[in-house]
Amino acid sequence: MRKPVIAGNWKMYKTAGDSVATALALKPLVANANHCEVIIAPVFTALKGVADRLEGSNIKVAAQNCASEKSEGAYTGEVAAFMIHDAGCSHVIVGHSERRQYFLEADHIVSNKAQAALAAGLTAIVCVGETLEQRDQGKALDTVKEQVVGSLSGLTASDLARIIVAYEPVWAIGTGRTATPEQAQEMHAFIRRVFAERHSAAAAESLRVLYGGSVKPDNISGLMKCSDIDGALVGGASLSAESFAKIVNYNG
Ligand code: 13P
Repeated sequence: MRKPVIAGNWKMYKTAGDSVATALALKPLVANANHCEVIIAPVFTALKGVADRLEGSNIKVAAQNCASEKSEGAYTGEVAAFMIHDAGCSHVIVGHSERRQYFLEADHIVSNKAQAALAAGLTAIVCVGETLEQRDQGKALDTVKEQVVGSLSGLTASDLARIIVAYEPVWAIGTGRTATPEQAQEMHAFIRRVFAERHSAAAAESLRVLYGGSVKPDNISGLMKCSDIDGALVGGASLSAESFAKIVNYNG
């Protein structure tokens, strides 16, 4: 049985103070959510404050990015995975399409970041997803396969047991245009097949694949009914504690 994961990616929104306030508002609203893991990903400057306030709760904290270097060093502006762990986080998002698009993160960089995250004891949430152009050209499956294979190259079998994949079609992010449950299910099943071929049937069976792209309180339950959708990575609708709690409590 794969335990679902509902994660909120706060992107570059909220100061440290606002992040703590939202986290504290969320805490009681999801306190009974034993059916899934709940994760929030605030900006770097808010991580420690949020993690400290959430200690002992059922909400875990993720960073939105980490350095591809494992050790400390002269890398101005970077934050190492072990520093993120030290701040009280358990997860880190790597390879988000916004980082691929605006910061030119290629698959081999995403793979290095995932490896750095795992070495630091973090779970890596590895994002993949095609653009609208790639989908319209019939290249969605090939694109996502290439990203999955490239972003996870160099990971050992035990590493793979500690990652989560998030499928986020770029055309559905922040657009209000969510993939239909059928479109998402097709891609999730495909990602699991790729995983089974490249690694093992057992690894594929236990891999959690999250969907992201305009997930809202009113479309989460349709998505969660699909057999290969193991949760959601939520952007805009995670910024409010109330709407994110409705998504977490999709079964209620
Ligand atoms: P939206 O939910 O705002 O479409 O963002 C999705 C996303 O990018 C989560 O990482």
